[in-house]
Amino acid sequence: MPAASWNLVPPDAVREVENIIQRSRWPLYVFGQQGRGKSCLAALVHQVWPSRAVWFDVSELLSQVKTCRRDGSVDVAGPDGRTFEFSEAGLFDRLANAGLLVLDDIGIRTPTDVDIEILTRAVNARAGKPLIVTSNLKPDELNQAFGARLASRLLAGVPLCLAGSDRRLTHSQVVEVRS
Ligand SMILES: Nc1ncnc2c1ncn2[C@@H]1O[C@H](COP(=O)(O)OP(=O)(O)OP(=O)(O)O)[C@@H](O)[C@H]1O
Ligand SMILES: [Mg+2]
Repeated sequence: MPAASWNLVPPDAVREVENIIQRSRWPLYVFGQQGRGKSCLAALVHQVWPSRAVWFDVSELLSQVKTCRRDGSVDVAGPDGRTFEFSEAGLFDRLANAGLLVLDDIGIRTPTDVDIEILTRAVNARAGKPLIVTSNLKPDELNQAFGARLASRLLAGVPLCLAGSDRRLTHSQVVEVRS
């Protein structure tokens, strides 16, 4: 989860997030190109959330569920380095019962049918509850990659586009070395 500060989030995005929280218009689907601050925005909301907030990288979640299906359970490291053993039901309980769930980076790989099934189940478990999903995929691309059923659920709240330039490159300079 990236370190982030609120004063670097565009004011319109802050207002939109406040609005979503007040009106409970979940999920928040944050999309845009790389380096626009999507994960940082999700990390900020995660940090200030008043009840238990759970963060999953989408690829991590998919691989954990698949490990459970293969081996019966998966060992997951907590923030303090301790490991916990989860069954598939335990993983879904954890994400269903969180105060806030963040699913970071959906769609970095072309999904399989199993990926779509797992994610649809996770998103269904969050129906009406606080959920933030980040992605590089625009709504129409999400629809194309994941199908209308999952896209419809993810876009039912507030799709928020973070535009601007790649912030990772703000201080990046080409170093030229001549021999
Ligand atoms: N609110 C913020 N506070 C501090 N730094 C930020 C903030 N937003 C963006 N940045 C800077 O920009 C970089 C990229 O932000 P972030 O990782 O959130 O982008 P992203 O849109 O999730 O990118 P990707 O699509 O590649 O996952 C961060 O590593 C950080 O240096
Ligand atoms: Mg990101």
